[in-house]
Amino acid sequence: VWPAAVYTFLEFIDRDQRRKDAPLEKKVLDCGAGGAKPPLGLFYNHGYEVHGIDISDDQIIKAKEFGAKHRMELHICKGDMRNIPFEDEFFSFVFEYYSICHLTKEDIQTAIKEMTRVLKKDGLLFLGFMSDESWPIFGEEKKSGEFWLSERDDDIVVHSVFTDDETDEYLAGFNIVWKEKRISWIGESYRDVSKDEWMEWYDKQPAMTRYSREDWSQMYEYRENKAMYTHIYYIARRPLDNQ
Ligand SMILES: C[S@@+](CC[C@H](N)C(=O)[O-])C[C@H]1O[C@@H](n2cnc3c(N)ncnc32)[C@H](O)[C@@H]1O
Repeated sequence: VWPAAVYTFLEFIDRDQRRKDAPLEKKVLDCGAGGAKPPLGLFYNHGYEVHGIDISDDQIIKAKEFGAKHRMELHICKGDMRNIPFEDEFFSFVFEYYSICHLTKEDIQTAIKEMTRVLKKDGLLFLGFMSDESWPIFGEEKKSGEFWLSERDDDIVVHSVFTDDETDEYLAGFNIVWKEKRISWIGESYRDVSKDEWMEWYDKQPAMTRYSREDWSQMYEYRENKAMYTHIYYIARRPLDNQ
């Protein structure tokens, strides 16, 4: 089973392209494509030529293992979505799933410019922004909506979160053809956490700026009802006259 949002993109493309006299080539790029269950597998199963880039060697290895096990040619290589190693207008469809949320807001803008460059005119782009209604959000808020979390000693993970009115601007120049805000309740993963562990998480983060220690302590009681990922998803078309 793949993430629901990825099926949504595939279904949208299928419906959209069936209506066209000259459908685009079935060629798709995933930015941040690595990991144990690469979403490109879904497109592969539907007859697409699939390509992916990921910045992490470990994530690429996991995706390659998946591809080998299921005999899928996923074409995932090392690459940074802020500087995509493909020529202009190479892909009909470009997406990312759960990856741009790990970039700073400035880098998200750079990545979207790059995704636009490699996307054909009239092609479709799928993006997901993490909403600031997600809970909990760990880390130090270094800039508005950018949370920096030190997971291990030198391993920093960023989460960029957005308000509802903030995200449309990132798609200026595109025609937004679909937009959805989706809440995934994830209370189960917090059910068995003890109060001590709960407070330890807080104390391990040297600068957890979103909540005070006291608020965090009180949140323990209702963590199961409150825990959620919230995303704002977009499908957008690159206009024919887009430069
Ligand atoms: C949470 S994982 C999601 C992986 C995959 N999309 C999935 O749904 O299973 C985020 C991925 O984005 C990759 N990533 C982070 N920054 C990147 C960048 N600048 N360029 C390419 N990949 C990046 C990470 O290495 C990681 O594999």
